[in-house]
Amino acid sequence: MDEILIKGGVPLNGEVKISGAKNAALPMLAATLLAGGAFTFENVPALKDIETIGHLLADLGADVCSEPGTIRIDTSGVNRHEAPYDLVRKMRASVLVLGPLLARLKRARVSLPGGCAIGARPINMHLEGLSRLGAEIKLEHGYVEASADKLVGAEIFFDIPTVTGTENLMTAAVLAEGTTVLRNAAREPEIVALADMLNRMGADVRDAGSPVITIQGVNALKPVSSRIIPDRIEAGTYMIAAALTGGSILLTDAEPDHLKPVIHKLREAGVSVSINDRGIEVRGNGPVKSVDIKTLPYPGFPTDMQAQFMVLMSVSSGLSIISETVFENRFIHVSELRRMGADITISGNHAMIKGAARLSGAPVMATDLRASASLVLAGLVADGTTRISRIYHLDRGYESMEEKFSRLGACIERVAAG
Ligand code: EPZ
Repeated sequence: MDEILIKGGVPLNGEVKISGAKNAALPMLAATLLAGGAFTFENVPALKDIETIGHLLADLGADVCSEPGTIRIDTSGVNRHEAPYDLVRKMRASVLVLGPLLARLKRARVSLPGGCAIGARPINMHLEGLSRLGAEIKLEHGYVEASADKLVGAEIFFDIPTVTGTENLMTAAVLAEGTTVLRNAAREPEIVALADMLNRMGADVRDAGSPVITIQGVNALKPVSSRIIPDRIEAGTYMIAAALTGGSILLTDAEPDHLKPVIHKLREAGVSVSINDRGIEVRGNGPVKSVDIKTLPYPGFPTDMQAQFMVLMSVSSGLSIISETVFENRFIHVSELRRMGADITISGNHAMIKGAARLSGAPVMATDLRASASLVLAGLVADGTTRISRIYHLDRGYESMEEKFSRLGACIERVAAG
């Protein structure tokens, strides 16, 4: 398995182009199952997870053709309704085919996603919502069997604003009979991007991005072409790299509107963030102030930026508290950061970080996607060399990360491990 070697201490300077968002592309690619015909997607990131959902769609009978940055999908031949375990275990977001398959074929058999490093991540709200629309749900042999003679609109209340739960129910409801109202819906920009695609397909989805989404079912939908929105989490990761290394990085193709909580916190920490017609310019100017963060569903501070921000707080000038309210086990990166010299104490879902640590390079192991990004960031600022193993986690969600950092001046390389 490949590893990443980083020699830290180099201020990063230059320009980085932000890629399309993984978490926008996945539900939009799954939504192609709602209509037969040829779809085109531009600005698609070259990621393992995108490959995986492409294999899944092909497994279901679609014709998938990928070129750098573009995916063409013809779903005319979709005739199977099962998402097999060996694909779902690679990527839990495969569960996003549940809603579209049920809406179009009136049946779906999707492997239950197993556990995950960051938490149990059940899909009970997805299933409860689908049964509210009239689906019969059976769980057996590790699979969800869902079927319905027809789907009828209903009012659905989410206990927690679930991102993929909102996406699954949106795609199930667009072909249901009558009106569906999703209450306490997730408000992420990726939800708005999916709703925009569905409406261009002929659906009637209103107020996506607000906590109450209303969907009027229609009889049929048509294929469309779409462009994937920029990845706000990739952008936030590079913004922190500039702050950490005391460099100056211009992010192009990013969407500042999607980054408000991250920009606000970076500015509160004394980092210079300026937005102009070229993009978002982030300049590290000396040690950052320690600030507290609490992760929350959008528009709160994103849980997917928590591990990266913790690295910044590890070298800040004081004491900060990071509270993780979205996932129950998302401090796995802490033990690896401690090995690099970070002074972090965990109590429940709070982490107390004493700043001003001088991080030192060490061999560390990635455990999940965003934790691996935090280890790269720590390596960039640490004294000496950091060797990160299990970087297949990184390849799931960051396009060409070592190339992008190299172009910014980092001493970083990917090596094939023994
Ligand atoms: C999406 O996961 C993202 N993945 C995650 O990004 C992100 O961390 C998460 O939203 C929160 O923003 C994709 O979009 C593909 P949730 P999702 O349902 O939809 C609980 C990354 O790094 N819950 O919003 O799975 C759940 O356990 C990934 O790119 C239930 O209890 O997250 C969690 O505690 C990691 N029952 C909370 O809700 C359910 O039926 C929020 O989860 C559904 C969720």
